[in-house]
Amino acid sequence: MSKIGQDIELAADLLQKGKLVAIPTETVYGLAANALDEKAVLTIFQAKARPFFDPLIVHVHSVAAARRYGLLEDPRLVKLAEKFWPGPLTLLLPKKDVIPGLVTSGLEQVGIRIPAHNMTLRLLQQLDLPLAAPSANPFGYVSPTEPAHVQKQLGNQIDYILDGGPCTVGLESSIVGIEDGIACVFRLGGLALEDIEKTIGPVELRLNQSSNPKAPGQLKSHYAQKKPLFLGDIKKLLKLHPGKSSALLCFGPANYSADHLVFNLSQKGDPEEAALNLFRFLRQADESNADVVLCEFLPEAGLGRAINDRLRRAAG
Ligand code: TXA
Ligand code: MG
Repeated sequence: MSKIGQDIELAADLLQKGKLVAIPTETVYGLAANALDEKAVLTIFQAKARPFFDPLIVHVHSVAAARRYGLLEDPRLVKLAEKFWPGPLTLLLPKKDVIPGLVTSGLEQVGIRIPAHNMTLRLLQQLDLPLAAPSANPFGYVSPTEPAHVQKQLGNQIDYILDGGPCTVGLESSIVGIEDGIACVFRLGGLALEDIEKTIGPVELRLNQSSNPKAPGQLKSHYAQKKPLFLGDIKKLLKLHPGKSSALLCFGPANYSADHLVFNLSQKGDPEEAALNLFRFLRQADESNADVVLCEFLPEAGLGRAINDRLRRAAG
């Protein structure tokens, strides 16, 4: 079991010594190490059993700090940084030499973001070091949105969990970069596509490209659960799986028989509320006694897009 608490000094001290600390962000909890310390970064991959071809996001406290580690020059990315940092947005920037190749899996670009969480911002300011932090879950499992999720799955491998309460967005950051001169979204996440496009105009979606070395983490089964998970119209799915006990992940006003274990992502049909509940409910459904998990899609707009993307990955 890891120690858990709100001691920023202790977290800073451990990180300075090359140890691993789980940190809260608005999106999901991260498993952090000093990004400039290759040995410390190596232990992140070991703790998560994460393949080395899957690069890590670097967290900083300010745009000035971001510029120390990546080249922030493209006017579209500058605009996004000015408007949405701190926030659920990762920018892929040409990497500066100080960032070890291990962090970016040998890629020329580094993913950087400023998280919108007071505790972690204070930690970053105090350290004045970049923190490499993937989501704090074992590779291939859903991201943690509460300290207890981290404790349960990685507690034995972490020196400290900084407890910043439940995450306020609940989905990983949206990832934006420039490829062939085109502004591209490589991962749909906590910043809605509409907000990105309102700021810099149309962007191209380059998702699901597990063959694309630019985003090797976008593996299709990235959120795979242990229990079979089916997607579609829940009433139809129930007919296809008769006699099975089902956990239902639904969205909006709905009535299902009490025979089922019902998780309503948002009774009032609010995608932001659904984002907050998604990973917690997926965990609970996966840990329940149900034989199968049946989920319905959200309308394909706003955070609904990112949620549907995660559901597709969970279904594998
Ligand atoms: O919200 C988030 O982004 C959270 C919190 C902790 O900040 N972090 C997170 O990290 O979701 P992780 O490791 O679970 O996902 C990182 C993904 C990689 O799998 C990859 O797809 C992409 O970000 N990525 C990171 N660095 C990259 C790079 N240099 N080039 C291309 N893709 C990169
Ligand atoms: Mg992850």
